[in-house]
Amino acid sequence: EQVHVKKICCIGAGYVGGPTMTVIAEKCPHITVTIVDVNPHRIAAWNSDDLPIYEPGLEDIVKAHRGTNLFFSTDIDKAIIEADMIFVSVNTPTKTQGLGKGFAADLKYVEACTRRIAAVAQSHKIVVEKSTVPCRTASSMRYILEANARPGLRFDILSSPEFLAEGSAIRDLHDPDRVLIGNLDTPEGHAAAQALVEVYANWVDRSKVVTTGLWSSELSKLAANAFLAQRISSINAMSAICEATGADVDEVAHAVGLDTRIGSKFLKASIGFGGSCFQKDLSNLVYLCHSLHLPEVATYWKSVLDMNDFQKRRFAQRVVASMFSTLTDKKITLFGFAFKNNTGDTRESPAITVAKYFREERANITIYDPKVPDRQVWLDLTEPGVVDDEIELRKTVSIKHDAYEAAEGADAIVICTDWEEFKNLDYERIYKGMGKPAFVFDGRLILDEKALKKIGFRVETIGRSGDNVGQEYRF
Ligand code: UDX
Ligand code: UDX
Ligand code: ADP
Repeated sequence: EQVHVKKICCIGAGYVGGPTMTVIAEKCPHITVTIVDVNPHRIAAWNSDDLPIYEPGLEDIVKAHRGTNLFFSTDIDKAIIEADMIFVSVNTPTKTQGLGKGFAADLKYVEACTRRIAAVAQSHKIVVEKSTVPCRTASSMRYILEANARPGLRFDILSSPEFLAEGSAIRDLHDPDRVLIGNLDTPEGHAAAQALVEVYANWVDRSKVVTTGLWSSELSKLAANAFLAQRISSINAMSAICEATGADVDEVAHAVGLDTRIGSKFLKASIGFGGSCFQKDLSNLVYLCHSLHLPEVATYWKSVLDMNDFQKRRFAQRVVASMFSTLTDKKITLFGFAFKNNTGDTRESPAITVAKYFREERANITIYDPKVPDRQVWLDLTEPGVVDDEIELRKTVSIKHDAYEAAEGADAIVICTDWEEFKNLDYERIYKGMGKPAFVFDGRLILDEKALKKIGFRVETIGRSGDNVGQEYRF
């Protein structure tokens, strides 16, 4: 009865499915892994020299295993038929219309591929839910499978949420804090979980592979992201107090983080968190709480999101206020557009919000990011009904591929992403080419404020009171 997995199929070749399956192929040479996707361009890119996502270390592993035991294909049915284990790793965006719009997860892609599995499977499958989904989705998947499968065919459902962070995906996959596997409390459910435990046991210490019930597993993913996001909102809330009082948020974070009950990680103040997960998962959690008639709990978690919106707005307003309350026709250069360093991903990036705010203030914006493709920037800044196309955007926004060129003639540099590269630029050289007074706004606390001031910059850093100390004092 115990299944020993030989063929894996993963539906969804995105930021989660791509790296996760690549590492399984790397660590399990005896398993053939096929990643499928409805998007033929994405599959073509995975099969080319120019992978569709940037992730440190990923390219080497893909190239070493592609064509051996790692395949990228658009033939979804074939991959489903051949596999013993199928991962569902499709996107689950927030609904934009209908019931729960703005909060609930849109499960149409999860449902579509579940139905596909039921339609084409000819033998027993273990179906692993990998996308982050609200609680009890696995149960819906089970109903769909059982209602549509050929008579006598059995499916086992597992939930195994992925905890990798972008920019460190390969490191996180190689050495995870834990691997979580949720299963139904039946003999078949435990056997299915065991099959997945065996896959991970090829490189992950058994003590780190945790098995739980299906619902605990699903909720744990939402909970982990909610806790992480809450830490950032907590330190960002402190950053506002620091700016108003003269305390330094880095000093506060350091002092607080030394308490082993709190810990030092994930306490970096910023212009706000971005990324595909935090906003979406917190919204899902808030919606779940409302559905469960727990309005106080919903309000608690919603406040984490509200604080994040406040932080982005507050930072943008500080830029305007510091530059004599007007940005009209000034040149503002954004350093960084990705939602964090080491990725080209811009989903929910705070830089987008900030750029739109500056546009409203009639600034000319120049953007430099080491990894974000130009077309993505144009896509992100287009606003239906406001600026619909790239031609209109180009009148006030430009993209450069070199930091020095981007800063030439700028009145202000605004650090939006914590790229290492920004720490090591020649700021003397940048200063000479800028309009005066030359401003630097450090939204990520990565620059040496004292050194910049010595050069002549006016510097405003998140979580520090800066040159306007005193002005903002209000009790
Ligand atoms: C707290 C801080 O821990 C300490 O650093 C500070 O100097 C004073 O305030 P104290 O109130 O003495 O110390 O005890 P603590 O262990 O923090 O517990 C506070 C309350 O939280 C208790 O009612 C405790 O039962 C409760 N608690 C604590 C929980 O409900 N769950 C937990 O996981 C931990
Ligand atoms: C997150 C979770 O970390 C990961 O476990 C989960 O699987 C997916 O969501 P990710 O969004 O890829 O991963 O990156 P993460 O490193 O968590 O950063 C999210 C956002 O928070 C970024 O915008 C980052 O810049 C910001 N951040 C992070 C801070 O502002 N301060 C911090 O201390 C940490
Ligand atoms: P994530 O960050 O969760 O990995 P992505 O958007 O990067 O999300 O990737 C999800 C992938 O799933 C996309 O490439 C999308 O084309 C693919 N996808 C969505 N629906 C289906 C489906 N029904 N069948 C196959 N692939 C799908």
